[in-house]
Amino acid sequence: MEKFVINGGKQIKGEVKISGAKNAAVAILPAVLLADSPCVIENLPDISDVALILNVMHTLGARVRLINKSTVEIDPRHANSFIVTKEMAEGMRASSYFLGALLGRMNRARVAPPGGCNFGVRPIDQHIKGFEALGAKITFENGLVDGKASELRGASVYLDVVSVGATINIMLAAVKAKGLTVIENAAREPHIVDLANFLNSMGANIMGAGTSVIKIRGVDSLQGTSYSIIPDQIEAGTYMAAVVGATGDLLVNNVTPKHLESIIAKLREMGAEITEYDEAVRVVMKGRPRKCNVKTMPHPGFPTDMQPQIATVLAIAEGTSIVTEGVWDNRFRYVDQLTVMGADVQVDGKMAVITGVEKLSGSPVKAVDLRAGAAMIIAGIIADGVTEVEDIDHIDRGYENIVEKFSAIGVDIKRVPIIDTTPVLKQA
Ligand code: EPZ
Repeated sequence: MEKFVINGGKQIKGEVKISGAKNAAVAILPAVLLADSPCVIENLPDISDVALILNVMHTLGARVRLINKSTVEIDPRHANSFIVTKEMAEGMRASSYFLGALLGRMNRARVAPPGGCNFGVRPIDQHIKGFEALGAKITFENGLVDGKASELRGASVYLDVVSVGATINIMLAAVKAKGLTVIENAAREPHIVDLANFLNSMGANIMGAGTSVIKIRGVDSLQGTSYSIIPDQIEAGTYMAAVVGATGDLLVNNVTPKHLESIIAKLREMGAEITEYDEAVRVVMKGRPRKCNVKTMPHPGFPTDMQPQIATVLAIAEGTSIVTEGVWDNRFRYVDQLTVMGADVQVDGKMAVITGVEKLSGSPVKAVDLRAGAAMIIAGIIADGVTEVEDIDHIDRGYENIVEKFSAIGVDIKRVPIIDTTPVLKQA
């Protein structure tokens, strides 16, 4: 086991290169199963969630060949299993995408229900509603979600909640179904558009991705393609928020500024000077951040996956800020860790009232989930003294080379082994 040790109080200076988007990668990789010939996927982030999915693809029978750290060739032709067990999925959230992809490929899927970050209940009722509308029969057997269909037929599906996962899963199942599928109240995140672009580059006929109505006209077959994944807006936002907390001057390279609009708007409100270039943004921050209210919402609203990071910076802002979580029921579990470091945060249901303090002080804390873990790193960077972050496997799920990237821009952060100090009982 390992932990991160951060010696806080340093300014951030230099350049960072953002990796491919995790939440696009975990949808696009299973989508390769829909092709009749090999695909090359580029700009893959080197993170444990991607490694896990590639392992699942391999176990299903696909041939996976790493060309380099961020490029993989996948030949799905021999994938003949439709079973993704709990052990194969290891609690990852995106396991559910194998339901849509396998149903789309072979009208059959048996997949462990999704795990992943724990924000309270994480239902998949909207995914199931979509599959059933397309003609699949969904049951729960021995802890696995089982789907079968004699054939999938296009249908209209209205989502009761704007769900990224349900939108993606229905697209995957519908892309080779007979006839037209219409998803209404669809999610509009950049990774939905990226998946649609990927599927279209294989020969699919998807229109409207990025709007709330997506139309998918089923095609008979999809051909392999070469495709480069979009940059990770949340990784970019995490580094940008860190500068606003720590002060400094950072050029964030390999981003799509349009995807960062809501994050840029809030960081500007907090006092950052942000310049947008074609594929980069520069963040300059002097002095203490200003208070600001934030409400998370589906895209193009402020992303819930940036909520813990921005709340952490607001913990040292001048004045009182209100952060409202508009997507998940329970995404303030990290607040207990922040208060240990001296933050003044009162949580009432989906709302946190954050009264800025001048400084946080370094302390041992835990990463309670992926983005909460990123927030603890930011807290360690802006705090005085030493912060130790444990349970960092959550962070490794979604951030490539986070120690190397932060070290290169002036942060004093190290990954160190946790030494077990439990006394060993003497054998008789
Ligand atoms: C995706 O999760 C992301 N994960 C999450 O990012 C992100 O927080 C979330 O979208 C919202 O943007 C991946 O892309 C792998 P949802 P997902 O379905 O698809 C409710 C990260 O940190 N809902 O959009 O699981 C649900 O309870 C991760 O990178 C239903 O009620 O999220 C929630 O309140 C964490 N029924 C809301 O919709 C359903 O069938 C949005 O969930 C599905 C969802």
